[in-house]
Amino acid sequence: MKITRPKHWSAWLPLILLLLLAGVLIAAGGWWRWVADDRRLAAPSVAPQDAATIARGAYLAKLGSCAGCHTTSGGATFAGGRGIATPFGIVYAGNLTPDDATGLGRWSADDFWRAMHEGRGRDGRALVPAFPYTEFTKVTRGDSDALWAYLRSVPPASRPRREHELAFPYNTPLALEAWRAIYFERGAFEPEPARSADWNRGAYLAQGLGHCAACHAPRDRFGGPGDVPSGGLMAGERWWAPALYIHPREVESVVALLKTGQSAHGTAMGPMAEVVVWGTQHWSDADLNALAVYLQSLPPAPARPTAPAGATLPDRGQGLYANRCADCHGTRGEGVPGVYPPLAGNPSVLQVEPVNLVHAVRHGGFAPATLAHPRPFGMPPNDIDDAALADLLTFVRGSWGNDAPAVSALQVFHAR
Ligand code: HEC
Ligand code: HEC
Ligand code: HEC
Repeated sequence: MKITRPKHWSAWLPLILLLLLAGVLIAAGGWWRWVADDRRLAAPSVAPQDAATIARGAYLAKLGSCAGCHTTSGGATFAGGRGIATPFGIVYAGNLTPDDATGLGRWSADDFWRAMHEGRGRDGRALVPAFPYTEFTKVTRGDSDALWAYLRSVPPASRPRREHELAFPYNTPLALEAWRAIYFERGAFEPEPARSADWNRGAYLAQGLGHCAACHAPRDRFGGPGDVPSGGLMAGERWWAPALYIHPREVESVVALLKTGQSAHGTAMGPMAEVVVWGTQHWSDADLNALAVYLQSLPPAPARPTAPAGATLPDRGQGLYANRCADCHGTRGEGVPGVYPPLAGNPSVLQVEPVNLVHAVRHGGFAPATLAHPRPFGMPPNDIDDAALADLLTFVRGSWGNDAPAVSALQVFHAR
């Protein structure tokens, strides 16, 4: 009979070693996963060495005044939801923060580039051209990527997209695709080697992120963009955006207006005040000067019409001015430097279309609050009928060396 003896422990040695090895491997795997997770937490989608890119992107966002359209008053910056009135209805700017559910959290740099360059959302949807991709299409891929890096770095904010409120047929994808087929072409900024570096920089800024022509070039009745910023009534006809050409002797005053919202000759109003607040006041001096170099090369505006010599000014207008305006703007329309804009020689007063003037005087308001003028002075509204307002404006446009034509009650009525 054979006796089975318990095996010597050494017989188990290979198995023990194997188990030990497995244990070590499992532990190492867990450790590695833990380390890797930790690394992922420490480094979000943008690597830390990109801090300079993020800073560049933050500046580019100011060149494009992105926050202006993509922030509601009181809402988180870039979280969207702001309604923008167009002649076809109201459209709502989306949430640009990296929130997964409601913002651009799941977007890639390529998706973002497609939005900027082609005006299409992540799902391929055509975006409405109130998002000025007709100009942003000229932005370089490098600038788009830096903007993207910056937008990834802002705090995510949850704010669901609001549906556009467009009238039929403008609310159909077909209408938008048709519009794009007629008016939109992907573009790229082509530098002109014969021009100076400043001119080229200015042109890139004005035609691309600055999207100046979006308001300063006249559009046709389907909202088709123009490319020469020769001035005209903005879509919706409530504001007149003047020709962007500037004479060399106006450079200083235009740069001051873009930088501070005010110049010795006037203040920025309405949509332009927003461009100053969210955009140009933050532009570097070098970029503002480059812009001014470019603006001087644009075609000059046609000579504005003037009042016939010897035209008489309405007494009622003079009386209204003395009672309601002279305290601030001066008996000779001279204003008070840095406080009340002059009305004598003020380009807004002399403009071809007096719509901005009607808004300014009827609704009053404040000059834009900028870093340079954090607490701007205000002007009270004036509740007077169209005919009286027309007389007042005719007086202002024809006094103290001003030589612009009279304003009729009908023009005042149409400016509403
Ligand atoms: C004049 C207003 C305006 C300005 C300035 C503006 N946007 Fe927009 N943007 C819009 C509107 C309106 C939409 C909505 C388009 C749509 O949904 O059809 C939009 C949509 C977008 C989208 C697509 C978002 C989505 O959810 O599909 C991106 C990306 C975007 N904008 C980025 C920018 C960036 C970056 C800037 C600055 C360089 C900028 N926008 C400046 C108005 C503006
Ligand atoms: C209490 C002082 C005050 C009174 C009174 C006043 N304004 Fe003003 N006005 C201002 C200030 C401050 C601004 C700049 C802020 C702005 O654009 O609203 C301004 C701006 C304007 C502008 C726009 C100028 C530009 O460069 O954009 C016009 C035009 C104007 N006023 C005309 C008038 C007329 C006409 C009256 C009389 C009915 C009047 N104002 C009464 C203080 C006043
Ligand atoms: C959202 C529309 C809009 C955009 C974008 C815009 N502007 Fe304007 N701009 C206006 C309107 C409206 C006026 C007339 C009101 C006023 O005089 O402030 C104006 C006026 C001006 C004036 C004359 C201001 C004065 O009172 O004499 C200058 C200069 C100007 N814009 C430059 C620019 C430049 C440069 C850009 C691009 C960086 C630009 N604008 C982009 C709407 C716009």
